[in-house]
Amino acid sequence: MELLPLVCLCLLSCSGDGSVVVTVEEGSDAMLPCSINTKENIEKLTFDWKKGGLEVFFYQNGKHYNNGGRTGQDKQFQGRVFHFEDELKHGNASIKISRTQLTDSGNYACTFPPNRSPSSVTLHVGAAPRPSVTILNGTKDWVLLQCEAHGDPLPTVEWKDSDNNTLNADSPQISERRGRSYITVNVTVTKTGSYSCVATQGTLSHQIGSQIYVPLAGQWYLNIQTIIHGF
Ligand SMILES: *[C@@H]1O[C@H](CO)[C@@H](O)[C@H](O)[C@H]1NC(C)=O
Repeated sequence: MELLPLVCLCLLSCSGDGSVVVTVEEGSDAMLPCSINTKENIEKLTFDWKKGGLEVFFYQNGKHYNNGGRTGQDKQFQGRVFHFEDELKHGNASIKISRTQLTDSGNYACTFPPNRSPSSVTLHVGAAPRPSVTILNGTKDWVLLQCEAHGDPLPTVEWKDSDNNTLNADSPQISERRGRSYITVNVTVTKTGSYSCVATQGTLSHQIGSQIYVPLAGQWYLNIQTIIHGF
């Protein structure tokens, strides 16, 4: 049985030179787009996906690596790359790389031989998933919040209040678990409100946040306690 990740984060953006950038979380699926500009049926044609010198996916008149019609796919991609059968008649040679690994990052070229210029797709694996936010400690007057994030490159992490002001948090701690680096930032808050932890990877133009609501009006909280205890 294949374990498909529940979250597939796929950010597609086109840069000025027409090359496509795809950014995904490690372990999720990545769709690499490629279409023949005439939109003609390519079921009987050939297209080839390469990453540098590595063979990613080769299709020729119905034959490809996944149906035993061809051999020579690079080991790194075996059993993880799929085309879209029903899309071929619309000239769509996009592929899906499942269970992406950090080493899948790089430049891919999709080619329709002969004499057609390849289109290129840049894949970044390692986008930060939503940070996890927890309450570590607290009293009726203050709460210590913790935010943990990861990704490649390691994101920067900020705590913000509901007015989007950056809070004065503790300095970030980096830790290692199962070969992966995590960044943790704690902050102490003393007011009721919504707080967000924002993870940013500038080089990937990727930003993602988590929010937590902290009810902290000491007096009000005490009153509620009194009311509850009163029953
Ligand atoms: C190609 O097929 C994929 C998968 O169905 C789809 O997501 C994508 O939008 C298609 N591309 C075009 C240009 O139609």
